[in-house]
Amino acid sequence: MTGSEREAFGVYVHWPFCLSKCPYCDFNSHVRHAAIDEDRFVRAFAREIETTAARAPGREVTSIFLGGGTPSLMQPATVGAVLDAIGQHWRVASDVEVTLEANPTSVEATRFAGYRAAGVNRVSLGVQALNDSSLKELGRLHSAREALDAVAIARRSFDRYSFDLIYARPDQTPAMWADELKLAIEEAAEHLSLYQLTIEEGTPFFGLHAAGKLKTPDEAMARALYDVTQEVCSAHGLPAYEISNHARQGAECRHNLVYWRGQEYAGIGPGAHGRLDVGGARHATATEKRPEAWLMRVEANGHGVVIDDVLNRDERADEFLLMGLRLKEGIDPERYAALSGRVIDPRRIAVLREEGAIAVDADGRLRVTQAGFPVLDAVVADLAA
Ligand SMILES: C[S@@+](CC[C@H](N)C(=O)[O-])C[C@H]1O[C@@H](n2cnc3c(N)ncnc32)[C@H](O)[C@@H]1O
Ligand code: SF4
Repeated sequence: MTGSEREAFGVYVHWPFCLSKCPYCDFNSHVRHAAIDEDRFVRAFAREIETTAARAPGREVTSIFLGGGTPSLMQPATVGAVLDAIGQHWRVASDVEVTLEANPTSVEATRFAGYRAAGVNRVSLGVQALNDSSLKELGRLHSAREALDAVAIARRSFDRYSFDLIYARPDQTPAMWADELKLAIEEAAEHLSLYQLTIEEGTPFFGLHAAGKLKTPDEAMARALYDVTQEVCSAHGLPAYEISNHARQGAECRHNLVYWRGQEYAGIGPGAHGRLDVGGARHATATEKRPEAWLMRVEANGHGVVIDDVLNRDERADEFLLMGLRLKEGIDPERYAALSGRVIDPRRIAVLREEGAIAVDADGRLRVTQAGFPVLDAVVADLAA
């Protein structure tokens, strides 16, 4: 575990552009055929950072995450200016984790050196698959060779890097996935994100799936693929610390831990979400998603926030449970009680323990077991009821 759980404060910055739209993806990402005015975005990011810091002053930033879209399309100078703006308005911890998401299509050694000089100290690469036919099926613009070359550049440029793979792809068998995973683990240093393909509404994959033209694994096969993931990763020193994230001990993504532990973070840029404690209340914020509309809002008002909800006790406690139980470390039931004003029903805990879906550790922490993770949503719903 890194740093104090109570004092962590993350800053998420969203870069909303990609070279092309992947057919499975429903992230806030947009393709533009004209050049992006990065200077204008820098000014708007700096303004929104200033406004947000005035709302949540005095924090010490422990992690920054430049996510997207494809942040590796940003010029290093743009990244540097955003990091400088954060440093001007908040104190930044000396051991701050600064992650940038990169797409293998836009990875070059000189660009990565520029990011490192700007203050980035960790990259997360969207590799998705390690064979060309799957990459093609996923609509990716890079080959497996190019992805591995990007991983090699990441390895040479940064002490810390991670990459993402998507599994439960059409026609994938547990044996094929186990081989791919072993290759991935050889290439990974300390961290891997392994996501089950989700068919998101509104994406081209959703239409193809509904029309029967895209066959994804059935429940039993998806479960077998999940089990293989756990077995292979644990056997090779990369156990899951979260339902989709694997790391060597101490190499967990500190920024994502902020979300899962229910800590505070600012959301900067188009379509960014934040959780800020203002005047003793937890605010759930979200900004305008459309990049150009976000720019105009920031230029007019100093921020692009379009949703700013105060979470009531139940909402806050449910969110804490929902996010915290994704983690292998689980949650502290006392913190749940402090947030919600009530304890989790001991009878429900007893039933779920008997079923082997949850465990209560010696220090009292409540956590989902390996057997419970595949049915996490049902476990959370049961405990929150
Ligand atoms: C914002 S993207 C990462 C960076 C970069 N845009 C890229 O794709 O290379 C975050 C990650 O979410 C995952 N992802 C996106 N859509 C998904 C889906 N429908 N199912 C499973 N994983 C998905 C991918 O692994 C992707 O790398
Ligand atoms: S997966 Fe990454 S590159 Fe593809 S559209 Fe989504 S954010 Fe962009």
